[in-house]
Amino acid sequence: MDKSEKSNLLEGQIAVLRENQKGSHTMPAPKLYPHQWLWDSCFIAIGMRHIDVAFAKAEIISLFDGQWSNGMIPNMIFDSGRAYRRDRDMWRSWLSPFAPAHVATSGITQPPMLAEAVKQIGELLPKAERKLFYRQVLPKLVKYHEWLYAERDPHSEGLVLQIHPYETGLDNTPPWLMQLREHSMPWWITVIEKTRLDSLINLVRRDTRHVPPGQRMNNIDALIYWDVVRRLRRKNYDISRILHRSLFCIEDITFNSILVRANTILQELATDSRIKLPTELLTNAKRAQIALSACWSEKDALFYSRDFITHELIDIPTVGSLIPLYSGAISKQKAEKLVQKLTNYKDFAANFPVPSVPLSSPYFNHEMYWQGPSWININWLIINGLRQYGYDSIADELTNKSLELVEKSGPYEYFSPIEGTGLGAARFSWTAALTIDFIKMKKQEDTTKN
Ligand code: GLC
Repeated sequence: MDKSEKSNLLEGQIAVLRENQKGSHTMPAPKLYPHQWLWDSCFIAIGMRHIDVAFAKAEIISLFDGQWSNGMIPNMIFDSGRAYRRDRDMWRSWLSPFAPAHVATSGITQPPMLAEAVKQIGELLPKAERKLFYRQVLPKLVKYHEWLYAERDPHSEGLVLQIHPYETGLDNTPPWLMQLREHSMPWWITVIEKTRLDSLINLVRRDTRHVPPGQRMNNIDALIYWDVVRRLRRKNYDISRILHRSLFCIEDITFNSILVRANTILQELATDSRIKLPTELLTNAKRAQIALSACWSEKDALFYSRDFITHELIDIPTVGSLIPLYSGAISKQKAEKLVQKLTNYKDFAANFPVPSVPLSSPYFNHEMYWQGPSWININWLIINGLRQYGYDSIADELTNKSLELVEKSGPYEYFSPIEGTGLGAARFSWTAALTIDFIKMKKQEDTTKN
C-alpha cells in the first residue's frame, strides 16, 4: 500500500466513525445496532484515540454512565428514542433494584475490554491528564471487576461464568449454541421448529431486514436466545435466583482470557496512578491466571470453554480457543501450540484469516456470523497476543491481511475468510476504528525502525 492509498484508507475510516457518532458515544452501525455496546465502545475508543482523544475518553465515560449500582456494566445502553421502546422493553432493566434510573440497559455484560481501552487512551495523554483520567475511571473499573468475581465466580475457582451467549460477544458460536439446544430448549420452541412456524419470527427481527438471512442466526436459534433473556428477566437479573436450578452456565474461554489480561492491565493502571487495589481482587486475579490452564485440552492442543456445573470442557474448537494468547498468562509452550493451529491450513490459516471456527469444522459456513467469518476485533486480540509472545512477523502478516480485507471490501462487520467479501453491516464502527489503530501502529513501528 503506498502513502496516498494509506491516507485514503485512513480518511475513509474516520468518516465512518464520525457518521456513526451520537452524543458522546458511537453506534456500531446506526440501522442494525442503534444503541451503545460495551466491547464495541472499547474497540472504537482504541481507534478513536488517534484521531480525537477527547472523544475516546467520552466514549468510555459514557459506558460508566450505564453502570449498575452493584458494579455491573451492561453490554447495551439503550437509546432513549421512542422508536426503540421495544428494545428497552425486551430487557426491562428497571426490574432490577441495581439498574440505573436515568437510562435503560440490558441485564448482562460483555467481554471486559475496558481496562485495555483505558490504558490505550492513557498512553496518548500527557502525564497529568492521564493521571486525572485514570483516577476518574479506576474506582468504577475496580467495582466492575469486583462484581465479576463476586457474582460470577461463586465458588472462587478463578473462572467467571456467563449466563447468555451475548455475554461472550461471539453470539452464535457453536459451543454455546450446542449447549443451549441440548439443555435449554423449551418445548414450545421445539413445536415451532417442527411445525415450521418460525418464519413468523421474521416479522419482529431487525437484523434480517438489513442483512441477508444467510449471514445471521436462523429463527429457531434467535428464539432460543430470546427465551434465555425472558428467563433472566423473570428472575429480575438476580444471580442467586438465576443460578438456582440453572440448566446451563458456561465459563467462556474468550471472556475469561480477556478478563485475565484486564486484571493485569488494571494493576498497571493502579500502580501508575498510585491507587491501592483491594486485596481480594488481587487474590482473584492471581487465581484467574492459574485457572485458565483448567481449560487446556492436552489431547487437542487447544483451550476450550468449560461447563460451570459439570466442569467438563466443551470441546468444540472455535477462534475463542486461541484468545488465551491475548491473556498473556499461558506458557510459551502452549502459545506455540496455538500459533501452530493459527498457521495450519486445516485449522485457521484461511485466505483471509482468522475464521471464527476452523476451516475443517463441521459448523464452518463462510458467511454465517460467528460460525466462519473473520472479524477484525478478533484479529486485533490475536495480533496483540502474538506480540506478547514475540511472534512479531506473524503479527505483522495478520495486520497486513486485516488491512487488505478492509481495503478490498470496506469496513464491514465481518468477512468471508475464503473470498474476503464484506458481510453483515457495512460501515461498521469497530472495523473502522481498529483499521485506524493498525495503520497508526504500523506507522509508529516504521518510524522506530528507521
Ligand atoms: C453483534 C456481535 C457483538 C457486538 C454487537 C454490536 O451482536 O455479535 O459482539 O457487540 O453485534 O456490534
